[in-house]
Amino acid sequence: MGLARRVERPSKYGLAAFWPAGESSVKKLYIKTYGCQMNVYDSARMADVLAPAGYALAAEPEGADLVVLNTCHIREKAAEKVYSELGRLKAQKQAAAADGRTMLIAVGGCVAQAEGAEMRRRAPFVDVVFGPQNYHDLGDMVTRAERQGPVLETEFPAQVKFDHLPRPRARGESTAFVSVQEGCDKFCTFCVVPYTRGAEYSRPVADIVAEVEVLAGDGVKEVTLLGQNVNAYHGAAPRGKAGKADEWGLGRLIRALAEVAGLARIRYTTSHPIDMDDDLIAAHGEVEALMPYLHLPVQSGSDAVLAGMNRRYRVEEYLAVVDRLRAARPDIALSSDFIVGFPGETEDDFAATLDLVRDVGYAQAYSFKYSARPGTPAADRSDQVAEDVKAERLARLQAALANLARSFNEDCVGRVMEVLFDRPGRYRGQVAGRSPYLQAVHVTPDPGGIEALQGRILPVRITEGHANSLAGRLTGAAVREARP
Ligand code: 5AD
Ligand code: SF4
Repeated sequence: MGLARRVERPSKYGLAAFWPAGESSVKKLYIKTYGCQMNVYDSARMADVLAPAGYALAAEPEGADLVVLNTCHIREKAAEKVYSELGRLKAQKQAAAADGRTMLIAVGGCVAQAEGAEMRRRAPFVDVVFGPQNYHDLGDMVTRAERQGPVLETEFPAQVKFDHLPRPRARGESTAFVSVQEGCDKFCTFCVVPYTRGAEYSRPVADIVAEVEVLAGDGVKEVTLLGQNVNAYHGAAPRGKAGKADEWGLGRLIRALAEVAGLARIRYTTSHPIDMDDDLIAAHGEVEALMPYLHLPVQSGSDAVLAGMNRRYRVEEYLAVVDRLRAARPDIALSSDFIVGFPGETEDDFAATLDLVRDVGYAQAYSFKYSARPGTPAADRSDQVAEDVKAERLARLQAALANLARSFNEDCVGRVMEVLFDRPGRYRGQVAGRSPYLQAVHVTPDPGGIEALQGRILPVRITEGHANSLAGRLTGAAVREARP
């Protein structure tokens, strides 16, 4: 399952905020991240890889010694947008040169992987082009580019990137992403991920546990386990703990992570419905730290469309998985991804999607117009759906999803929810956090109380439910507990 969200827009989890701009002696690094949480994670790791070479992250591209674009290719005119961004950077690079400074440009991520040598041809001023599986080498690539000129690395390497990355540290945040699985062998006919991220790979359990222990020791309370197909996880068991199985599935990994001291919440994304095995479903009922909220993309409510997509399940089977999850964890809420206007989709097919949306009652969802990705099987089909039909269906679907999301949020009013406070709110004096269902929750504590809340999980009585967020007030017990 792809992870991409808010494609071709810099991620809202902009990295620059995590690091102070460098001293004048250090080199200034600017990373612009597009797309999914996996890219956000990768960008953080790129900064870690470049730190020993003297690079410190800055919030703005101005004056940067190295600009990295970490790109996403999943939908829309991704490559064109990257080229137009590169046009702007070219001018900045020329201005730096006129000032006697060198500014290097590196392009990574899935567009770089897909374009490869073509990018070197169309944008020869780019110094480094590298794929998502190559960035452990970024320090070396940048040094080579400085000394010898442009570098291209988009081969899928034989070595495993994760074995060559420095161990991540939390930078004052209370939530963190942890990549546990990468790549995809599913080959949905609309999707570029199997081509840009490569074959499925799972990190060994011991590496992940060690990474999470370090993060929890640094104050992280919540981890989101990431993978394009995260529930296909099958990592090498820790030595001596293998028992009968020499590989662990995601359910068993989650049970092990729930034991890590200080860690209170676990999430994972993105899952494929056919990989929801019994142990993972049971974990939803048994592991308290596993949050009752699951992103389980269905893509379409029509069996004909699902078959054309090569999703490998029928609607009935998807609904059976949902039933089993709800039996294990009755308060679980679901989110999904939808594609409208997949080649051949009829009005009846689309109506079946609307029916499914109503039947499941999603708390949240992402929906997209089908976008033909060069090199994928569906792009070659002759029965493409007209753009205006796609747009009209998307509007209807989004209206239905927005209604559901709003009523889910409104139904929370009056409840007491545990909120992990992780950032200041939009307005002065406000502090914001996340509910177990990943809803943004705003509270306005007593003046001076804000610092005391950061990084804490406290009960909040919900007083308002909006389209995309909740508001509430700390319960009396929480106020007493939060008092510094
Ligand atoms: N067109 C539209 N949406 C797509 N997605 C993936 N590929 C495409 C495409 N070619 C969506 C799917 C996936 C999410 C990450 O992006 O819904 O689950
Ligand atoms: Fe997800 Fe299918 Fe793409 Fe794999 S091929 S990442 S399962 S959408």
